[in-house]
Amino acid sequence: MFTWSKRTAIAVGVGLAGALFTLPAAAQSEYGLGRAATDTEVEAWDIDVRPDFKGLPKGQGTVDDGEELWESTCASCHGSFAESNSFFTPLIGGTTEEDIKTGRVESLTSPTQTSRTIIMTVPTVSTLWDYIYRAMPWDNPRTLEPDQVYSVLAYLLSLADIVDFDFTLSDENIAEVQDRMPNRNGVQFWEGLWNVDGEPDTSNTACMEDCVEEIEMSSELPERARDAHGDLAEQMRIVGPVRGVNSLEPALQGTVEDNADNVREYARATLDSADDEKGDSNSDEIVARLDENGCMACHAIDTKKVGPAFVDVGKKYDGEDMHDTLVKNVREGSSGTWGSAPMPPNPKVSDDDLDMIIDWVLSGAPE
Ligand code: HEC
Ligand code: HEC
Repeated sequence: MFTWSKRTAIAVGVGLAGALFTLPAAAQSEYGLGRAATDTEVEAWDIDVRPDFKGLPKGQGTVDDGEELWESTCASCHGSFAESNSFFTPLIGGTTEEDIKTGRVESLTSPTQTSRTIIMTVPTVSTLWDYIYRAMPWDNPRTLEPDQVYSVLAYLLSLADIVDFDFTLSDENIAEVQDRMPNRNGVQFWEGLWNVDGEPDTSNTACMEDCVEEIEMSSELPERARDAHGDLAEQMRIVGPVRGVNSLEPALQGTVEDNADNVREYARATLDSADDEKGDSNSDEIVARLDENGCMACHAIDTKKVGPAFVDVGKKYDGEDMHDTLVKNVREGSSGTWGSAPMPPNPKVSDDDLDMIIDWVLSGAPE
Protein backbone atom coordinates (compact mmCIF):
# COMPACT_ATOMS: atom_id res chain seq x y z
CA MET A 1 0.00 0.00 0.00
CA PHE A 2 1.17 3.49 -0.71
CA THR A 3 1.86 5.59 2.34
CA TRP A 4 1.99 9.31 2.13
CA SER A 5 5.28 10.00 3.89
CA LYS A 6 6.66 13.39 4.55
CA ARG A 7 9.43 12.68 2.09
CA THR A 8 7.12 11.91 -0.82
CA ALA A 9 5.04 14.95 0.05
CA ILE A 10 8.10 17.15 -0.15
CA ALA A 11 9.27 15.47 -3.33
CA VAL A 12 5.89 15.98 -5.00
CA GLY A 13 5.74 19.54 -3.79
CA VAL A 14 9.17 20.34 -5.21
CA GLY A 15 8.29 18.54 -8.43
CA LEU A 16 5.15 20.61 -8.89
CA ALA A 17 6.91 23.83 -8.14
CA GLY A 18 9.64 22.88 -10.58
CA ALA A 19 7.04 22.12 -13.26
CA LEU A 20 5.30 25.42 -12.70
CA PHE A 21 8.48 27.38 -13.12
CA THR A 22 9.33 25.70 -16.40
CA LEU A 23 5.93 26.56 -17.93
CA PRO A 24 6.28 28.81 -20.96
CA ALA A 25 5.37 32.43 -20.34
CA ALA A 26 2.33 32.39 -22.63
CA ALA A 27 0.58 29.80 -20.51
CA GLN A 28 0.90 31.86 -17.34
CA SER A 29 -1.97 33.92 -18.63
CA GLU A 30 -4.73 35.81 -16.94
CA TYR A 31 -6.21 32.66 -15.45
CA GLY A 32 -3.00 30.84 -14.61
CA LEU A 33 -4.28 27.74 -16.41
CA GLY A 34 -2.90 25.48 -19.09
CA ARG A 35 0.44 25.52 -20.86
CA ALA A 36 1.67 26.12 -24.36
CA ALA A 37 1.62 23.04 -26.60
CA THR A 38 5.02 21.51 -27.19
CA ASP A 39 6.53 21.34 -30.66
CA THR A 40 5.97 17.58 -30.71
CA GLU A 41 2.31 18.00 -29.86
CA VAL A 42 1.82 20.62 -32.55
CA GLU A 43 3.63 18.40 -35.06
CA ALA A 44 1.35 15.45 -34.28
CA TRP A 45 -1.70 17.60 -34.76
CA ASP A 46 -0.55 19.59 -37.79
CA ILE A 47 -1.03 16.97 -40.49
CA ASP A 48 -3.19 18.72 -43.06
CA VAL A 49 -2.19 18.41 -46.70
CA ARG A 50 -3.34 21.31 -48.81
CA PRO A 51 -4.33 21.37 -52.48
CA ASP A 52 -0.96 22.94 -53.30
CA PHE A 53 0.63 20.00 -51.40
CA LYS A 54 1.88 22.14 -48.57
CA GLY A 55 2.16 19.79 -45.59
CA LEU A 56 2.60 16.64 -47.70
CA PRO A 57 5.23 14.35 -46.15
CA LYS A 58 7.96 13.06 -48.45
CA GLY A 59 7.64 9.45 -49.51
CA GLN A 60 6.54 7.02 -52.19
CA GLY A 61 4.59 3.84 -52.79
CA THR A 62 3.80 1.44 -55.63
CA VAL A 63 0.47 0.23 -56.93
CA ASP A 64 1.57 -3.34 -56.16
CA ASP A 65 2.29 -2.65 -52.49
CA GLY A 66 -0.91 -0.66 -52.35
CA GLU A 67 -2.97 -3.59 -53.62
CA GLU A 68 -1.58 -5.81 -50.90
CA LEU A 69 -2.28 -3.25 -48.21
CA TRP A 70 -5.73 -2.62 -49.64
CA GLU A 71 -6.67 -6.29 -49.48
CA SER A 72 -5.46 -6.69 -45.91
CA THR A 73 -6.61 -3.38 -44.44
CA CYS A 74 -9.28 -1.70 -46.52
CA ALA A 75 -11.16 -4.23 -48.66
CA SER A 76 -13.18 -5.60 -45.75
CA CYS A 77 -15.18 -2.39 -45.77
CA HIS A 78 -14.73 -0.95 -49.26
CA GLY A 79 -14.64 -4.15 -51.33
CA SER A 80 -11.76 -5.57 -53.37
CA PHE A 81 -11.99 -2.99 -56.14
CA ALA A 82 -13.24 -0.13 -53.94
CA GLU A 83 -16.61 -0.44 -55.62
CA SER A 84 -18.54 -1.91 -52.73
CA ASN A 85 -21.52 0.07 -51.58
CA SER A 86 -22.31 -2.15 -48.64
CA PHE A 87 -20.51 0.00 -46.09
CA PHE A 88 -20.16 3.41 -47.62
CA THR A 89 -20.49 5.14 -50.98
CA PRO A 90 -18.22 3.30 -53.43
CA LEU A 91 -14.85 5.01 -53.70
CA ILE A 92 -14.08 4.18 -57.31
CA GLY A 93 -16.19 3.91 -60.47
CA GLY A 94 -18.28 6.13 -62.73
CA THR A 95 -15.43 8.05 -64.40
CA THR A 96 -14.22 7.78 -68.00
CA GLU A 97 -11.08 8.44 -70.02
CA GLU A 98 -12.87 11.50 -71.41
CA ASP A 99 -13.48 12.85 -67.88
CA ILE A 100 -9.74 12.55 -67.18
CA LYS A 101 -9.14 14.71 -70.27
CA THR A 102 -11.74 17.35 -69.48
CA GLY A 103 -11.44 17.39 -65.71
CA ARG A 104 -15.20 17.36 -65.37
CA VAL A 105 -17.14 14.16 -64.64
CA GLU A 106 -19.86 13.97 -67.25
CA SER A 107 -22.14 11.56 -65.42
CA LEU A 108 -22.53 13.97 -62.47
CA THR A 109 -24.89 15.95 -64.68
CA SER A 110 -26.84 12.88 -65.77
CA PRO A 111 -30.23 12.30 -64.16
CA THR A 112 -29.78 8.54 -64.51
CA GLN A 113 -26.56 8.44 -62.48
CA THR A 114 -27.85 7.67 -59.01
CA SER A 115 -24.63 6.85 -57.22
CA ARG A 116 -21.76 9.26 -56.73
CA THR A 117 -18.42 7.69 -56.00
CA ILE A 118 -15.66 9.56 -54.23
CA ILE A 119 -13.45 9.62 -57.32
CA MET A 120 -16.32 11.17 -59.31
CA THR A 121 -16.66 14.09 -56.96
CA VAL A 122 -13.36 14.81 -55.26
CA PRO A 123 -11.47 17.50 -57.19
CA THR A 124 -8.10 17.28 -55.42
CA VAL A 125 -5.83 14.29 -54.95
CA SER A 126 -4.43 15.99 -51.82
CA THR A 127 -7.82 15.51 -50.18
CA LEU A 128 -7.60 11.76 -50.66
CA TRP A 129 -4.05 11.64 -49.34
CA ASP A 130 -4.97 13.75 -46.32
CA TYR A 131 -8.16 11.83 -45.60
CA ILE A 132 -6.62 8.38 -45.78
CA TYR A 133 -3.66 9.41 -43.61
CA ARG A 134 -5.93 11.15 -41.11
CA ALA A 135 -8.96 8.89 -40.91
CA MET A 136 -8.44 5.46 -42.47
CA PRO A 137 -8.71 2.60 -41.79
CA TRP A 138 -11.86 3.68 -40.05
CA ASP A 139 -11.44 1.32 -37.14
CA ASN A 140 -7.76 2.14 -36.69
CA PRO A 141 -6.95 5.65 -37.94
CA ARG A 142 -3.46 7.21 -37.87
CA THR A 143 -1.79 3.83 -38.12
CA LEU A 144 -0.53 4.19 -41.72
CA GLU A 145 2.97 5.43 -42.48
CA PRO A 146 3.25 8.05 -45.26
CA ASP A 147 4.73 5.46 -47.67
CA GLN A 148 1.73 3.20 -47.08
CA VAL A 149 -0.62 6.06 -47.84
CA TYR A 150 1.25 6.73 -51.11
CA SER A 151 0.96 3.07 -52.11
CA VAL A 152 -2.68 2.52 -51.21
CA LEU A 153 -3.61 5.78 -52.93
CA ALA A 154 -1.60 4.71 -56.00
CA TYR A 155 -3.67 1.50 -56.06
CA LEU A 156 -6.97 3.44 -55.87
CA LEU A 157 -5.81 5.79 -58.65
CA SER A 158 -4.87 2.81 -60.81
CA LEU A 159 -8.35 1.33 -60.36
CA ALA A 160 -9.73 4.57 -61.78
CA ASP A 161 -7.26 4.44 -64.72
CA ILE A 162 -5.68 7.67 -63.56
CA VAL A 163 -2.26 6.00 -63.27
CA ASP A 164 -0.84 2.76 -64.74
CA PHE A 165 -0.55 -0.51 -62.83
CA ASP A 166 3.24 -0.16 -62.58
CA PHE A 167 3.10 3.37 -61.20
CA THR A 168 5.01 4.62 -58.17
CA LEU A 169 3.30 7.60 -56.55
CA SER A 170 5.51 10.04 -54.66
CA ASP A 171 5.62 13.58 -53.32
CA GLU A 172 7.52 14.48 -56.48
CA ASN A 173 4.99 13.34 -59.07
CA ILE A 174 1.71 13.80 -57.20
CA ALA A 175 1.18 17.23 -58.83
CA GLU A 176 1.13 15.52 -62.23
CA VAL A 177 -1.52 13.14 -60.95
CA GLN A 178 -3.57 16.14 -59.90
CA ASP A 179 -3.66 17.15 -63.58
CA ARG A 180 -5.47 13.87 -64.34
CA MET A 181 -8.07 13.96 -61.55
CA PRO A 182 -11.41 13.37 -63.32
CA ASN A 183 -13.32 16.11 -61.49
CA ARG A 184 -10.51 18.63 -61.00
CA ASN A 185 -12.53 21.34 -62.76
CA GLY A 186 -15.68 20.54 -60.88
CA VAL A 187 -15.24 23.00 -58.04
CA GLN A 188 -17.68 25.85 -57.85
CA PHE A 189 -17.28 28.87 -55.64
CA TRP A 190 -20.43 30.52 -54.43
CA GLU A 191 -19.90 34.01 -53.28
CA GLY A 192 -23.35 34.38 -51.87
CA LEU A 193 -26.53 32.38 -51.66
CA TRP A 194 -28.14 34.27 -54.52
CA ASN A 195 -26.78 36.27 -57.33
CA VAL A 196 -28.51 39.64 -57.52
CA ASP A 197 -27.72 41.78 -60.56
CA GLY A 198 -24.36 40.07 -60.90
CA GLU A 199 -23.46 40.60 -57.23
CA PRO A 200 -23.56 38.12 -54.33
CA ASP A 201 -26.55 38.81 -52.09
CA THR A 202 -24.50 38.79 -48.90
CA SER A 203 -21.57 40.94 -47.99
CA ASN A 204 -19.75 41.65 -44.81
CA THR A 205 -17.30 44.37 -44.03
CA ALA A 206 -15.40 43.94 -40.83
CA CYS A 207 -15.96 46.93 -38.57
CA MET A 208 -12.80 48.17 -36.90
CA GLU A 209 -13.98 51.27 -35.03
CA ASP A 210 -17.17 52.95 -33.77
CA CYS A 211 -19.03 49.70 -34.30
CA VAL A 212 -22.64 49.15 -33.32
CA GLU A 213 -22.85 47.79 -29.84
CA GLU A 214 -26.15 46.04 -29.99
CA ILE A 215 -27.28 44.16 -33.02
CA GLU A 216 -30.92 43.69 -33.86
CA MET A 217 -31.50 40.37 -35.51
CA SER A 218 -34.21 40.01 -38.09
CA SER A 219 -35.15 37.48 -40.67
CA GLU A 220 -36.99 38.01 -43.90
CA LEU A 221 -37.48 36.29 -47.19
CA PRO A 222 -36.56 38.69 -49.97
CA GLU A 223 -38.66 38.76 -53.15
CA ARG A 224 -35.97 37.07 -55.24
CA ALA A 225 -35.79 34.12 -52.86
CA ARG A 226 -39.46 33.30 -52.80
CA ASP A 227 -39.41 30.81 -55.63
CA ALA A 228 -35.98 29.42 -54.79
CA HIS A 229 -37.52 25.97 -54.80
CA GLY A 230 -39.92 26.63 -57.62
CA ASP A 231 -43.60 27.31 -57.21
CA LEU A 232 -44.64 24.80 -54.59
CA ALA A 233 -48.25 25.01 -55.76
CA GLU A 234 -47.20 23.26 -58.91
CA GLN A 235 -45.46 20.54 -56.99
CA MET A 236 -47.77 17.86 -55.74
CA ARG A 237 -46.90 16.77 -52.26
CA ILE A 238 -48.07 13.34 -51.34
CA VAL A 239 -47.81 13.74 -47.58
CA GLY A 240 -49.39 16.27 -45.25
CA PRO A 241 -52.42 18.49 -45.50
CA VAL A 242 -50.80 21.27 -47.49
CA ARG A 243 -50.94 20.47 -51.18
CA GLY A 244 -48.40 23.11 -52.08
CA VAL A 245 -48.59 26.86 -51.57
CA ASN A 246 -48.12 29.35 -54.34
CA SER A 247 -44.91 30.74 -52.95
CA LEU A 248 -45.15 33.94 -54.98
CA GLU A 249 -48.34 35.04 -53.24
CA PRO A 250 -49.27 37.35 -51.56
CA ALA A 251 -47.31 40.41 -52.73
CA LEU A 252 -44.71 41.54 -50.19
CA GLN A 253 -45.30 45.06 -48.95
CA GLY A 254 -44.98 46.86 -45.65
CA THR A 255 -42.81 45.81 -42.76
CA VAL A 256 -41.08 42.49 -42.34
CA GLU A 257 -43.55 41.58 -39.59
CA ASP A 258 -46.56 42.42 -41.77
CA ASN A 259 -45.16 40.33 -44.58
CA ALA A 260 -44.49 37.41 -42.31
CA ASP A 261 -48.06 37.60 -40.99
CA ASN A 262 -49.56 37.88 -44.46
CA VAL A 263 -47.57 34.98 -45.84
CA ARG A 264 -48.49 32.83 -42.86
CA GLU A 265 -52.15 33.70 -43.20
CA TYR A 266 -52.08 32.97 -46.90
CA ALA A 267 -50.46 29.60 -46.34
CA ARG A 268 -53.02 28.78 -43.64
CA ALA A 269 -55.85 29.60 -46.02
CA THR A 270 -54.56 26.94 -48.39
CA LEU A 271 -54.51 24.56 -45.45
CA ASP A 272 -58.17 25.36 -44.75
CA SER A 273 -59.15 24.66 -48.33
CA ALA A 274 -57.35 21.32 -48.11
CA ASP A 275 -59.44 20.60 -45.02
CA ASP A 276 -62.63 21.60 -46.81
CA GLU A 277 -61.87 19.11 -49.53
CA LYS A 278 -61.66 16.44 -46.90
CA GLY A 279 -65.10 17.51 -45.64
CA ASP A 280 -63.87 17.99 -42.08
CA SER A 281 -66.98 18.75 -40.02
CA ASN A 282 -66.03 18.53 -36.35
CA SER A 283 -64.13 21.79 -36.09
CA ASP A 284 -66.67 23.60 -38.30
CA GLU A 285 -69.37 22.57 -35.85
CA ILE A 286 -67.33 23.77 -32.87
CA VAL A 287 -66.46 27.07 -34.52
CA ALA A 288 -70.17 27.61 -35.16
CA ARG A 289 -70.88 27.13 -31.44
CA LEU A 290 -68.02 29.43 -30.45
CA ASP A 291 -69.41 32.06 -32.81
CA GLU A 292 -72.96 31.69 -31.54
CA ASN A 293 -71.85 32.08 -27.94
CA GLY A 294 -69.74 35.15 -28.64
CA CYS A 295 -66.45 33.47 -27.70
CA MET A 296 -64.75 34.40 -30.98
CA ALA A 297 -65.03 38.09 -30.11
CA CYS A 298 -62.07 37.51 -27.80
CA HIS A 299 -60.58 34.16 -28.90
CA ALA A 300 -59.14 32.59 -32.01
CA ILE A 301 -58.11 29.00 -32.53
CA ASP A 302 -54.39 29.44 -32.99
CA THR A 303 -53.59 33.08 -32.32
CA LYS A 304 -53.84 35.06 -29.13
CA LYS A 305 -56.44 37.84 -29.19
CA VAL A 306 -57.91 39.29 -25.99
CA GLY A 307 -57.98 35.79 -24.63
CA PRO A 308 -55.48 32.97 -25.20
CA ALA A 309 -55.47 30.89 -28.40
CA PHE A 310 -57.49 27.72 -27.88
CA VAL A 311 -54.55 25.57 -29.02
CA ASP A 312 -52.45 27.18 -26.28
CA VAL A 313 -55.09 26.40 -23.66
CA GLY A 314 -55.07 22.80 -24.92
CA LYS A 315 -51.28 22.64 -24.66
CA LYS A 316 -51.16 24.19 -21.18
CA TYR A 317 -53.47 21.59 -19.67
CA ASP A 318 -52.41 18.67 -21.83
CA GLY A 319 -52.96 15.44 -19.90
CA GLU A 320 -54.57 17.15 -16.90
CA ASP A 321 -58.10 16.55 -15.69
CA MET A 322 -59.23 20.16 -16.15
CA HIS A 323 -62.64 19.71 -17.74
CA ASP A 324 -64.83 20.79 -14.81
CA THR A 325 -62.51 23.62 -13.77
CA LEU A 326 -62.54 25.12 -17.24
CA VAL A 327 -66.33 24.81 -17.53
CA LYS A 328 -66.58 26.71 -14.27
CA ASN A 329 -63.98 29.34 -15.29
CA VAL A 330 -65.73 30.07 -18.56
CA ARG A 331 -69.15 30.22 -17.01
CA GLU A 332 -68.16 32.34 -14.02
CA GLY A 333 -65.31 34.27 -15.62
CA SER A 334 -61.63 34.10 -14.72
CA SER A 335 -58.55 36.24 -14.43
CA GLY A 336 -54.86 36.14 -13.79
CA THR A 337 -53.96 32.90 -15.54
CA TRP A 338 -53.17 34.21 -19.00
CA GLY A 339 -52.29 37.82 -18.44
CA SER A 340 -53.86 41.02 -17.20
CA ALA A 341 -57.12 40.85 -19.19
CA PRO A 342 -59.95 39.09 -17.34
CA MET A 343 -62.61 36.92 -18.98
CA PRO A 344 -66.07 38.14 -17.97
CA PRO A 345 -68.68 35.50 -17.00
CA ASN A 346 -70.48 33.71 -19.86
CA PRO A 347 -73.81 32.78 -18.26
CA LYS A 348 -75.74 32.14 -21.49
CA VAL A 349 -73.75 29.31 -23.02
CA SER A 350 -75.63 25.97 -22.69
CA ASP A 351 -74.18 23.07 -20.71
CA ASP A 352 -74.05 20.89 -23.83
CA ASP A 353 -72.24 23.51 -25.89
CA LEU A 354 -69.77 24.24 -23.15
CA ASP A 355 -69.05 20.53 -22.56
CA MET A 356 -68.39 20.02 -26.23
CA ILE A 357 -66.21 23.15 -26.51
CA ILE A 358 -64.07 22.30 -23.49
CA ASP A 359 -63.59 18.70 -24.67
CA TRP A 360 -62.40 20.05 -27.98
CA VAL A 361 -60.08 22.65 -26.35
CA LEU A 362 -58.56 19.99 -24.10
CA SER A 363 -57.96 17.71 -27.07
CA GLY A 364 -55.68 20.42 -28.51
CA ALA A 365 -58.27 22.42 -30.51
CA PRO A 366 -57.68 20.44 -33.72
CA GLU A 367 -58.73 22.15 -36.96
C1 HEC B 1 -14.01 -0.52 -40.81
C2 HEC B 1 -14.43 -0.06 -42.11
C3 HEC B 1 -13.41 0.68 -42.97
C4 HEC B 1 -12.12 0.32 -43.26
C5 HEC B 1 -11.35 -0.90 -42.79
C6 HEC B 1 -11.63 1.33 -44.15
N1 HEC B 1 -12.57 2.28 -44.39
FE1 HEC B 1 -12.39 3.89 -45.62
N2 HEC B 1 -14.26 4.52 -45.06
C7 HEC B 1 -15.08 3.86 -44.16
C8 HEC B 1 -16.22 4.71 -43.88
C9 HEC B 1 -17.37 4.39 -42.92
C10 HEC B 1 -16.05 5.88 -44.64
C11 HEC B 1 -16.94 7.12 -44.63
C12 HEC B 1 -16.56 7.92 -43.42
C13 HEC B 1 -17.27 9.21 -43.30
O1 HEC B 1 -17.83 9.72 -44.28
O2 HEC B 1 -17.22 9.76 -42.19
C14 HEC B 1 -14.82 5.72 -45.39
C15 HEC B 1 -14.35 6.63 -46.32
C16 HEC B 1 -13.19 6.47 -47.05
C17 HEC B 1 -12.76 7.33 -48.11
C18 HEC B 1 -13.60 8.50 -48.64
C19 HEC B 1 -13.10 9.83 -48.28
C20 HEC B 1 -13.98 10.92 -48.82
O3 HEC B 1 -13.45 11.79 -49.48
O4 HEC B 1 -15.19 10.92 -48.56
C21 HEC B 1 -11.58 6.87 -48.58
C22 HEC B 1 -10.74 7.45 -49.70
C23 HEC B 1 -11.25 5.70 -47.79
N3 HEC B 1 -12.27 5.47 -46.89
C24 HEC B 1 -10.11 4.94 -47.95
C25 HEC B 1 -9.79 3.86 -47.15
C26 HEC B 1 -8.52 3.17 -47.17
C27 HEC B 1 -7.38 3.55 -48.10
C28 HEC B 1 -8.59 2.18 -46.26
C29 HEC B 1 -7.49 1.21 -45.86
C30 HEC B 1 -6.25 1.79 -45.44
C31 HEC B 1 -9.89 2.23 -45.64
N4 HEC B 1 -10.59 3.27 -46.22
C32 HEC B 1 -10.33 1.34 -44.69
C33 HEC B 1 -14.87 2.63 -43.62
C34 HEC B 1 -13.68 1.93 -43.68
C1 HEC C 1 -64.56 39.46 -23.46
C2 HEC C 1 -63.56 38.54 -23.94
C3 HEC C 1 -63.80 37.05 -23.76
C4 HEC C 1 -64.90 36.32 -24.13
C5 HEC C 1 -66.20 36.83 -24.74
C6 HEC C 1 -64.59 34.94 -23.84
N1 HEC C 1 -63.34 34.85 -23.31
FE1 HEC C 1 -62.43 33.13 -22.76
N2 HEC C 1 -60.89 34.23 -22.03
C7 HEC C 1 -60.73 35.60 -22.16
C8 HEC C 1 -59.56 36.01 -21.41
C9 HEC C 1 -59.02 37.44 -21.30
C10 HEC C 1 -59.02 34.83 -20.86
C11 HEC C 1 -57.80 34.72 -19.94
C12 HEC C 1 -58.31 34.88 -18.52
C13 HEC C 1 -57.25 34.55 -17.50
O1 HEC C 1 -56.20 35.13 -17.50
O2 HEC C 1 -57.53 33.66 -16.71
C14 HEC C 1 -59.88 33.73 -21.28
C15 HEC C 1 -59.65 32.40 -20.94
C16 HEC C 1 -60.38 31.33 -21.46
C17 HEC C 1 -60.09 29.94 -21.25
C18 HEC C 1 -58.94 29.40 -20.39
C19 HEC C 1 -59.36 29.45 -18.93
C20 HEC C 1 -58.31 28.99 -17.97
O3 HEC C 1 -58.63 28.83 -16.82
O4 HEC C 1 -57.15 28.78 -18.38
C21 HEC C 1 -61.03 29.21 -21.91
C22 HEC C 1 -61.13 27.70 -21.98
C23 HEC C 1 -61.92 30.16 -22.52
N3 HEC C 1 -61.48 31.43 -22.24
C24 HEC C 1 -63.01 29.79 -23.27
C25 HEC C 1 -64.01 30.69 -23.63
C26 HEC C 1 -65.26 30.31 -24.20
C27 HEC C 1 -65.70 28.88 -24.48
C28 HEC C 1 -65.94 31.46 -24.42
C29 HEC C 1 -67.36 31.61 -24.97
C30 HEC C 1 -68.37 30.90 -24.24
C31 HEC C 1 -65.09 32.56 -24.00
N4 HEC C 1 -63.94 32.08 -23.52
C32 HEC C 1 -65.44 33.89 -24.09
C33 HEC C 1 -61.57 36.46 -22.81
C34 HEC C 1 -62.83 36.11 -23.27
